[in-house]
Amino acid sequence: MVVGECPGAVAKVGVMSDIDERVIGWGIVATGDIAHSVAADLKLLEGSRIAAVSSRVQDRADTFAREFGVTTAYSSVRALVEDDAVDVVYVATPHPQHAYAVRLAAEAGKAVLCEKVFTHSLAETESLAAYAVQQGVFCMEAMWTRFNPLIVKARQMVADGVIGDVRMVSAELGFASTHGPDHRLWNRPLGGGALLDVGVYTVGFAQMLLGAPAEVAAVGTLTDQGVDAEAGLLLSWPGGQRAHMDVSLRSPLAGAASIVGTTGRIEFAPRFHHPGRMTYVRTPERGVEHPEVFQHLSEGHGYVPMLRAVAQAVREGRTECPEMPLADTVEVMRVLDDALGQLGVEYPDVAPAGA
Ligand SMILES: NC(=O)c1ccc[n+]([C@@H]2O[C@H](COP(=O)([O-])OP(=O)(O)OC[C@H]3O[C@@H](n4cnc5c(N)ncnc54)[C@H](OP(=O)(O)O)[C@@H]3O)[C@@H](O)[C@H]2O)c1
Repeated sequence: MVVGECPGAVAKVGVMSDIDERVIGWGIVATGDIAHSVAADLKLLEGSRIAAVSSRVQDRADTFAREFGVTTAYSSVRALVEDDAVDVVYVATPHPQHAYAVRLAAEAGKAVLCEKVFTHSLAETESLAAYAVQQGVFCMEAMWTRFNPLIVKARQMVADGVIGDVRMVSAELGFASTHGPDHRLWNRPLGGGALLDVGVYTVGFAQMLLGAPAEVAAVGTLTDQGVDAEAGLLLSWPGGQRAHMDVSLRSPLAGAASIVGTTGRIEFAPRFHHPGRMTYVRTPERGVEHPEVFQHLSEGHGYVPMLRAVAQAVREGRTECPEMPLADTVEVMRVLDDALGQLGVEYPDVAPAGA
């Protein structure tokens, strides 16, 4: 067994011009769990600062600001997006509430990084993506998986033909949620359900490797509130490639994933959506496998590579990162929307989220 270094563990940006040195100001919308984790990672990121935070409740914004040494705290998203010190708006509200903040940010001409899943429906996703393009602003779903150095390496290996033609992808992700029925994970108006919360990682993984599938078959179990507690998906492509995935909010699935090609396979140790270890196995010769292991130590909570890529794209005036274009967000949502339809999950229309 060979233990390999993963090249690209730190994305160097090369020689910096004056414009490249601009410190990027981030505005954080919401003060929940992920806002805390991402704020902590922003504090680790060179050339970035948290310029402002907003909450529906001024007190919560003030507390968050104190915790992270942020000078400006607002009780409205509009005030945050209009702050000249904010270059990038990071949206960390529940899924159906994303669109309100993303629209305001794009309207104000600000770059926007929006938490996964981008929105709760295909129609809303298409409309929001089109609006961002129309406004000419940077806009990306915060699919941090695609910036993990091991995922970047695996994509390169697949593109280089190291495992031959990809024939099969598998991915599973889940946990036994202990949250009550009002929590966003279970609550239908807050976009509850396993497919939107963790299914976006599994479908996003398959789409990253094989593009948009031709067929989607879904099975699952709904809660009394009408959201999917667990689901299984089988996707297929015209060339016969297939992907199978399981997601759950009820059971602690391991979180493994694999990519199987005609001349080898790549396996990700749990949890595949931010892997620290992957194994490449080429087709065995005379029955003996020679696995090659790659490891990577996470920077902070694991969001730093994505945040660094977004800051650099904004400095360079780009509207997308090639790792996670809006077109991919739409393709993934098309699959999730199809699966949710098959299971009978429907989300209500959402009133603007206020702050
Ligand atoms: N990338 C990742 O690893 C990761 C991990 C977890 C979650 N996420 C994503 O991040 C988003 C937020 O998840 P979370 O776990 O941070 O949720 P959370 O802990 O419930 O926090 C969500 C925050 O959104 C704000 N908010 C605005 N409108 C709201 C409404 N109508 N109801 C409830 N809260 C509202 C609240 O902040 P204020 O009270 O300050 O307004 C709340 O604290 C979701 O889209 C989720 O999928 C991503």
